[in-house]
Amino acid sequence: MSKPTRKLIETLKGKPQAVPPVWLMRQAGRYLPEYRATRAKAGGFLDLCYNPALAAEVTLQPIRRYGFDAAILFADILLVPDALGQPLGFYEGEGPKLSPIRSTAELASLKPDATRPKFSLVFETVARLRQDLPHDTTLIGFCGAPWTVATYMVAGGGSSDQADARGWAYRDPAGFQALIDLLTDVSVDYLSGQVQAGADVLQIFDTWAGSLPDTEFARWVTAPTKLMVSKLKAKHPDVPIIAFPRGAGQQAARFVRETGVDGLSCDTSTPVDAMAGLAATTCVQGNLDPLLLVAGGDAMDARVDSLKQALAGRPYIFNLGHGIVPQTPPENVGRLVDRLRKTA
Ligand code: CP3
Repeated sequence: MSKPTRKLIETLKGKPQAVPPVWLMRQAGRYLPEYRATRAKAGGFLDLCYNPALAAEVTLQPIRRYGFDAAILFADILLVPDALGQPLGFYEGEGPKLSPIRSTAELASLKPDATRPKFSLVFETVARLRQDLPHDTTLIGFCGAPWTVATYMVAGGGSSDQADARGWAYRDPAGFQALIDLLTDVSVDYLSGQVQAGADVLQIFDTWAGSLPDTEFARWVTAPTKLMVSKLKAKHPDVPIIAFPRGAGQQAARFVRETGVDGLSCDTSTPVDAMAGLAATTCVQGNLDPLLLVAGGDAMDARVDSLKQALAGRPYIFNLGHGIVPQTPPENVGRLVDRLRKTA
């Protein structure tokens, strides 16, 4: 049996499409009433992530509603520290909390050989999804990039400036490198397991890449991503990899060149003409403002049209510049997809 053509994969291989494939970061989530109902049934957010039947269900919800070209596995970037033995909690209105790891000595509490029980639950979700999804819907597996995951592990949660991780990296680069190396290895293992379970494409989220100056960006963002890409390509040469180095700005082109990623997810602040320039060497993805999706209406339609037009004839995946926010009216998402697919 021949493999079905998946438009999003073709695009990642460099083939422009008349209508760009579309999916949205955080397409499963609180803006959907059916997500809120399933999460309540699961107990909490983490119970949902580790329940393969319900995690698969919330992954499928936005596919049923909108027919996106890709589904993204429902999980979280912080399952990696959780599986390593740094227990994670999510509290209403407070976001994630972990007990912080601040020194090389404390790294010993992380157990890279003990991730299997939790990772297996995620792999089971992937396997169910590949069975249940329409054949022409791409399944995206993901993880957080080592730098971004480290910022949460070191601060013990979210922070506005990532000061704790930056401080450690300046004070004790060798010690911080040990954390980054550990995360790089575990993340490769985790993504490789997702591919073996059925993921077609991988995305690496580096939400806080933009908080580093150039030399640190090279060491903590580009270098670990490059290593992950080369290890993953050695195992799975046909699986495209998208990176989201949010805030990379002027360093984006170099990041793409040095890491060898197949796709670059561009944040909202990336100018459209810069995206068109980047699309000469890589597939680009993005970058509608998530708040324009909240506003909807003619303003949203106009921006959808201008992105589509500016990137026509280039390898381009339509997406947001960051994740969907909870106050998004679900009907605006439907309107966006219709607008994009309408051939004008
Ligand atoms: O639909 C999808 O995109 C797939 C699932 C997914 C989630 N998180 C589910 C989630 C993905 C790909 C992520 C990535 C993620 N998680 C990132 C990187 C991308 C980004 O948005 O910058 C980061 C930094 C995290 C860490 C995280 N998870 C935080 C800081 C929070 C709290 C903030 C919030 O939005 O509540 C989460 C929670 C989270 N992850 C939710 C979802 C649907 C909301 C949880 C809920 O139901 O209450």
